Amino acid sequence: MTELVHADRAAETEATGRWWRDAVIYQVYVRSFADGNGDGIGDLLGVRSRLRYLADLGVDAIWLNPFYTSPMADFGYDVADYRDVDPIFGSLADAKALIDDAHRHGLRVIVDVVPNHTSDQHVWFQEALAAGPGTPARERYIFREGKGADGELPPNDWESVFGGPAWTRLPDGQWYLHLFAPEQPDLNWENPEVHAEFESILRFWLDLGVDGFRIDVSHGMVKAEGLPDVGHADQVKMIGTEVVPFFDQDGVHEIHRAWRRLLDSYPGMRIGVAEAWVPSLDRLANYVRPDEMHQAFNFHFLTTPWDAARFRKVIDESLASSGAVGAPATWVLSNHDVKRHVTRYGHGELGLRRARAAALLTLALPGSTYVYQGEELGLPEVLDLPEEYLTDPQRLRNPEDGRDGCRVPIPWADVEPHFGFSLPGIEETWLPMPASWGPLSVESQLRDPASTLSLYREALRIRRDLTSLGDESLTWLDSPAGTLAFTRGDGFAVTVNLTGEPVELPAPGRVLLASAGVEVAGGTVRLAPDSAVWWGRDDA
Ligand code: BGC
Ligand code: CA
Repeated sequence: MTELVHADRAAETEATGRWWRDAVIYQVYVRSFADGNGDGIGDLLGVRSRLRYLADLGVDAIWLNPFYTSPMADFGYDVADYRDVDPIFGSLADAKALIDDAHRHGLRVIVDVVPNHTSDQHVWFQEALAAGPGTPARERYIFREGKGADGELPPNDWESVFGGPAWTRLPDGQWYLHLFAPEQPDLNWENPEVHAEFESILRFWLDLGVDGFRIDVSHGMVKAEGLPDVGHADQVKMIGTEVVPFFDQDGVHEIHRAWRRLLDSYPGMRIGVAEAWVPSLDRLANYVRPDEMHQAFNFHFLTTPWDAARFRKVIDESLASSGAVGAPATWVLSNHDVKRHVTRYGHGELGLRRARAAALLTLALPGSTYVYQGEELGLPEVLDLPEEYLTDPQRLRNPEDGRDGCRVPIPWADVEPHFGFSLPGIEETWLPMPASWGPLSVESQLRDPASTLSLYREALRIRRDLTSLGDESLTWLDSPAGTLAFTRGDGFAVTVNLTGEPVELPAPGRVLLASAGVEVAGGTVRLAPDSAVWWGRDDA
């Protein structure tokens, strides 16, 4: 008996120790989550005030987008001081209080780290500008002489991810590299000082109590030897599958290994999640080898169109490639850089129906899932933001590619003018919220058992109860074309209809949860168009 209890304890410690393997992690885009001080911009105080909501939703952890000191040329992805909080978002004391409070609510906290580039206002870059060519201060970034008779041409043909050349020339004649905006100069990861600085930054936040890091552009820190031309003039997209000399170079993995050693030297299973837009799932799996990061966002899944065969293929390939290195899959449908999936799947009612089904599909898969704030409300992309509000650096260079529409503040209550996002009395939020969003607010949806929020809450509750699922794999069941059906262990099955027509198939158990109406009669289920159902199979 005693022995058994001990064995259980050991199993439990092992299970909680590896908490990230099947965790649901909620992405908080701080600027748009909740405004605690009434200036129309979300902040750390606002996040703190909504921790109860997140705990009740049933997520395991939160990932906070950057809240560090920044001139905000790229909404915080241009960091000027990695060890302090921008006054827009609060203070370091607020960050500490938020971490502690989150822990009290049973939520782990992951923060963003931005190692590919700093802000041009970072003290290092300011020093580099002042010190001039050939100085050690310039060795922290990637400065080069230009081509052409007077060095008037950029050092190579690289284009910035946001559009336009990836090089900017200084008055002293040298050029510096920026894969993103000119306000985001790329660091030189061949310089040991850069390594030392980032290890120190990681320690700073680990000491403050964070449970892990989301590593921005983790596939970009190392560039191909000699900075060779890409060889064509097209702009390179982040969301591309092309092999380019500045992304996914083998050298980046040494950095991830060093960081993993650092994470492992701290108690409590601190994790790293890689943001890596790479050409294939096999390349992605390199980032989650046993001595590298714990997770890597599966953008191949995110970009899969609404099609049963395509989903089945990407799920199989994802499980195979991550499984081959012993890592869990890390599913994601939306984030602050892409069009919200309600809109990608068709917008309006169609998009919402599919998004609800996609939620049940995704949350039933083995591994970990990220939920982007507002997807639990079924928020669509806002496509008609007034021009004067739009300052996303990507949109400025590429009008069709703006990321503002997925960053609109969250509606908390059905009250005008800003739906409880800000304090009463303020005039406007940093991005305006659609007048129609009252019924989509948290408060409205909590009252409605059929709402998308209720669907997510129920799904997360069931997922927690089904602890036996762990991250074990799935088994496909035969099902008609355009549908997916699978089991996880003996007790749980999922069916998804990705067609626009009702489909009948044998009911694989009793209904636990459905994204839309479901009719079961005589052992046959009629699945509504674009819907998913979770099934319990206790008699199996
Ligand atoms: C972030 C973006 C950011 C870029 C540059 C990304 O992948 O998620 O929001 O613009 O890195 O830091
Ligand atoms: Ca604020």
